[in-house]
Amino acid sequence: MPKINENYLNLKESYLFTEINHRVAEYTKNHPDKKVIRLGIGDVTRPLGSDIIKALHEGVDAMASAETFKGYGPEQGYAFLRDAVAKYYAGHGVSIDPGDIFISDGAKSDTGNITDIFGDDNVILIPDPVYPVYVDSNVMCGRKITYISGTAENGFLPLPDKNIHADLIYICSPNNPTGAVYNHEQLKAWVDYALENEAVILFDAAYEAFISDPELPRSIFAIEGAKKCAIEFCSLSKTAGFTGTRCGYTIVPKELVFKASDGRQVSLNALWNRRQTTKFNGTSYIIQKGASAVFTEEGMAQCMENIQYYKENARIICDVFAKKGIRYFGGEHSPYIWFECPNGMDSWEFFDYLLNNAQVVGTPGSGFGENGQGFFRLTGFGTRENTIEAMERIEKLL
Ligand code: MLT
Repeated sequence: MPKINENYLNLKESYLFTEINHRVAEYTKNHPDKKVIRLGIGDVTRPLGSDIIKALHEGVDAMASAETFKGYGPEQGYAFLRDAVAKYYAGHGVSIDPGDIFISDGAKSDTGNITDIFGDDNVILIPDPVYPVYVDSNVMCGRKITYISGTAENGFLPLPDKNIHADLIYICSPNNPTGAVYNHEQLKAWVDYALENEAVILFDAAYEAFISDPELPRSIFAIEGAKKCAIEFCSLSKTAGFTGTRCGYTIVPKELVFKASDGRQVSLNALWNRRQTTKFNGTSYIIQKGASAVFTEEGMAQCMENIQYYKENARIICDVFAKKGIRYFGGEHSPYIWFECPNGMDSWEFFDYLLNNAQVVGTPGSGFGENGQGFFRLTGFGTRENTIEAMERIEKLL
């Protein structure tokens, strides 16, 4: 009889967004006449930019002739896309070696899979509240997790505590779910802490394209010393609308070298490469071809048009909360608006209240950690029409 990985028994019964889908399906089954508006999961609604579509078609056409047909590609991604990502970073003043970039099918997979190259006896530091994949993927390995509190008082931007030692630190900025963004000085505090503790920061930059203030860092590598202590994950899901198309990348600098227990110096870039070449066969050529158009001038302009659309939705949401005197965070450099549930309701109580009385679906803050209790998240990724209608319903209700 196989022995199962019993760490899975320590997980919550279902993944946050699966539980939400389950409750919404139940509600729609019982109320088929009601129009439910979903502002829960951060899934995009705008179509891909026309240059991306054109490049995807070119990718398909390449498969139609023997001269241009592609079979297995490099597990790390095609050079044309790795170079394009490096150029994108250079455009923001951050120098990245294309050899440090690994193309993948998205940040969710990579933030989960990165656990493979680290031992299970590491102390993992995770901010609370945060994207649930970091916690769940470490629980699956039976790892010890230490939490650091994000609260309304610290603007949901916890800073390192010198009295706590950690080996691996997860940071998401702009943060999912709170929309809070670390500034340069705050991220430097994390880099200094990681260097002092010989720790590695696992930096999730999935929402970097929503940052409009040039003073705010879009990458951990904008901070001096970060290449010696950080891995960065990014995704085209939110930057370019690839939630269904699937493409992302992970940057593992070659400067990340740590001593193994037998004294050998080990490169994390080499370990991740070993992991990927064994367990991953690369993102499809067609998708990478489409992704390369994201990083052209015209392609990025089309992506930014969609991002502006989502940010305008976020503004519409924020305006209602401001008008109603409800305390909220985010929405400015982020598609997420994080607010306090009214009348002291807890997060799931408010979820049910909103679904039953306004037919609007959001995400309960407690699904992102204990500190999220009493908070709720809405997303600007809906259509304009639905966002306006949802907020009219919410305004009437609250
Ligand atoms: C979210 O809603 O938090 C995100 O869409 C989840 C994800 O990106 O996987």
